[in-house]
Amino acid sequence: MAAATGVVMLLAAALAILAPSTRALDRAEFPPGFLFGAATSAYQIEGAYLEDGKGLSNWDVFTHTHSGNIADGRNGDVADDHYHRYMHGTESAHRQSPEDVEIMHSLGVNSYRFSISWARILPRGRLGGVNSAGIAFYDQLIVALLQKGIEPFVTLHHFDLPHELETRYGGWLGAGIREEFDHYADVCFQAFGDRVKFWTTFNEPNMMTRLTYMLGMYPPNHCSPPFGNCNSGNSQWEPYVAAHNIIMSHAAAVDNYKKNYQAKQGGSIGIVISMKYYEPLTNTTVDILAARRALSFEIHWFLDPIFFGEYPKEMREMLSSNLPKFTLAEKILLENKVDFIGVNHYTAIYAKDCISSPCDLNTYEGNALVFATGQRDGVQIGKSTALVGFYDVPEAMEQIIKYVNQRYENTPIYVTENGYSQHNSNSMEDMINDVGRVNYLRGYLSSISSAVRRGANVHGYFVWSIMDNFEWVFGFTVRFGMYHVDFTTQERTPKMSAKWYRDFLMGYAPLGEVQTLRADS
Ligand code: FCB
Repeated sequence: MAAATGVVMLLAAALAILAPSTRALDRAEFPPGFLFGAATSAYQIEGAYLEDGKGLSNWDVFTHTHSGNIADGRNGDVADDHYHRYMHGTESAHRQSPEDVEIMHSLGVNSYRFSISWARILPRGRLGGVNSAGIAFYDQLIVALLQKGIEPFVTLHHFDLPHELETRYGGWLGAGIREEFDHYADVCFQAFGDRVKFWTTFNEPNMMTRLTYMLGMYPPNHCSPPFGNCNSGNSQWEPYVAAHNIIMSHAAAVDNYKKNYQAKQGGSIGIVISMKYYEPLTNTTVDILAARRALSFEIHWFLDPIFFGEYPKEMREMLSSNLPKFTLAEKILLENKVDFIGVNHYTAIYAKDCISSPCDLNTYEGNALVFATGQRDGVQIGKSTALVGFYDVPEAMEQIIKYVNQRYENTPIYVTENGYSQHNSNSMEDMINDVGRVNYLRGYLSSISSAVRRGANVHGYFVWSIMDNFEWVFGFTVRFGMYHVDFTTQERTPKMSAKWYRDFLMGYAPLGEVQTLRADS
């Protein structure tokens, strides 16, 4: 009950400042050294899926064998062809359109968040050799970035892993994968750590394990009723077994980095968690507790073990023996602290309790016995975007930052992803004049600036994404980029949002809601 009262107070405080900001947005309001960047991930942009010694990844195999699970039946074989277009080089020097590092430089970002393809570095995992061409690719990318004053911010695991490890260990379900990840991380620290000062172990393992092992949407497509009908899997316990292996893989990599690399390389290491902000649908105790449960299954699931060595109470009570327990040795390994928390935040949503009254549980929040909805009394929580369930609710950004700072010892935060999706359209003009994205980014950046003014410990912001790319099960049907990509010619064209972000970074962003700005203005 005390917990519920605390939550009510927190939410009341939240609602009190859920009012649109009328302040100007000025880069000068952010602390010196604040990282402003854009983000991508290997599978979504690189292409070159079988080139220069790269092994097959789980996503290569899945998109080829389960093309029906991808909205447009397509895959990341070529994607943005970034592997060949990251800089002006041998093969690409003749191209008209500027290359990707040059694009970032022209925007004025001081950091770029990207992920390394595990299968490009270790095509067969620990038992095969290191692929020197893979090392060379990331080496050159890192050098090109640093030459332009862009700080590399590197994710080790962003959903893709060598297919061979999927086969050998059942992916994240087998404890043997922990040593594999530890080895992979070590190879990367050794190869790139003299220049990479920001490492994250995993991207959104909380969302990935649910989509993979509970809802069966991601490879290898595991689930069981009521969450879905897959050929194999068990939605009641597989997500938690996989999560346990991921948490311990993370812990081992952090331990290695702290013991063997950090002092001489001088970098920092963290983890990135997907964080929706859940508001109670109604002001009733059951919905308030439902919002808390949803946050617990979303955020505390991974961060509580990393900070406190234990799964959150709500999960232990609800899942009982389906939730693994940490051994003493595991708890000791978890005592290493992360240097920062990566927050991927896109939306807020209402949480409705499903314990007191039945609801559809075949959903992302179903395991928390919560139903998430964007509607309250027929009014939507925020403007729609192209992805169902993703609304434009900028004020929630400040809330989530505050919440994470409060719960996790005021650990520094980097907002590692935030962005807006557009539908693919036949009209180039529609896609380039992305007013919705400009307003979304302006709103969310204002919310971060407000958090900064109130003393939040936040140090960076990355727009998802620098350019349109392969959006997992949505294929190429939605576009998140500030640059439009023509996937036939690979031409990159700046959208209005790219120009807006550049203007903001240069110190003269337009104020107020944008209605009519043209991309060429
Ligand atoms: C996040 C993923 C990223 C991208 C965005 C839209 O969940 O980390 O790869 O798909 O969503």
